[in-house]
Amino acid sequence: MREKAVEAARFIREKCDLKFCWVIILGSGLNALADEISSPVEIEYSSIPHFPRSTVPGHAGKLICGTLCGKPVLLMRGRFHYYEGYETAEVVFPIRVFRELGVSCLLTTNAVGGLNRSFQVGDIMLVVDHVNLIPSPLRGPHDPYWGERFPSLFEAYDPGLQKLAERAAEKAGLRLEKGVLASVPGPQFETPAELRALRVLGADAVGMSVTPETIVARQMGMKVLAFSVITDLDPAIGGEELSHESVLKAASGAALKLAEIIKEVISLYEGC
Ligand code: HPA
Repeated sequence: MREKAVEAARFIREKCDLKFCWVIILGSGLNALADEISSPVEIEYSSIPHFPRSTVPGHAGKLICGTLCGKPVLLMRGRFHYYEGYETAEVVFPIRVFRELGVSCLLTTNAVGGLNRSFQVGDIMLVVDHVNLIPSPLRGPHDPYWGERFPSLFEAYDPGLQKLAERAAEKAGLRLEKGVLASVPGPQFETPAELRALRVLGADAVGMSVTPETIVARQMGMKVLAFSVITDLDPAIGGEELSHESVLKAASGAALKLAEIIKEVISLYEGC
C-alpha cells in the first residue's frame, strides 16, 4: 500500500507541483466550490495509478489541483464509498496519497439526513464528533509508516478548526449548526426504527461517508474539519420519503452557502 501511495503521489506531483496544505472533499451535490479554483489542473481518478475505479458509469470523478483564496489546495470532486463495494482501506487510499503529498488538513463535506429536531433541510452542520458504523479502514495488517495501530479519536474533529469554522460562518453571515454524525454502510436509507436507534446513540445526523476518511487522516496526524449538509429529515420530525434525487437537489441548494464558509476557513487559516 505504501509503494502504491508513493507512486500515485508522484504521478499527481508531476501534473501539479504545489505545496498543498488542504484537501477538500466535495460530497454529493456539493460541487459549487469546484468552479472557484484558480488555475485548475484536472486529473481524472481513472488516470491516477492505483486509485479505485469509479463504479458509477459516466461519473468518473476528478482531482482538481489549484489555488483557492490564493492558497494551494487539492479538491476531490466525487469520493469513493463503502457501499460501492470497496473495502474501507480502498475508500481511504486517496487520503494516504494526499498525506504523501504533504497535505496536513482534511476538509470534508457530505449530504446527510437530519435527526435533531431543531434542524431544517438546507442547514449546514459542523461535525463535532462521530459514531462510526462502517467497518474500520484500519482493519488488517498494520504498517507503522502511517501512524499508530490504535490511534486516538478523542478529538477527531480539530477543535481549533471548529472555532475557525464558526468564525468563518459568522463572517459570511451564515448559520452553522453543530452535531454528531453517524455513518452507516448504506446504500439503503434507514428504516424508522433505525433512525430512532441512531438518535438514542447520540447522533444528530446520519450519512454514508466521512468517518473512514477521518479515521485514517487522524491516524496520519492530519487535522480534520467536516461539514454535513442536511438534505432530508427523519419522518419522525417532519421529513418526507426521500430519494437520491431529492438528496442531490437539497445539497445543490446549500452548496453555495457551504462554499462561502469553506472559502472563509481557507482564508482565515494561518497554520500553513
Ligand atoms: N441517510 C443516510 N445517508 C444520507 C441521508 C440519509 O437520510 N441523506 C443523505 N445521505
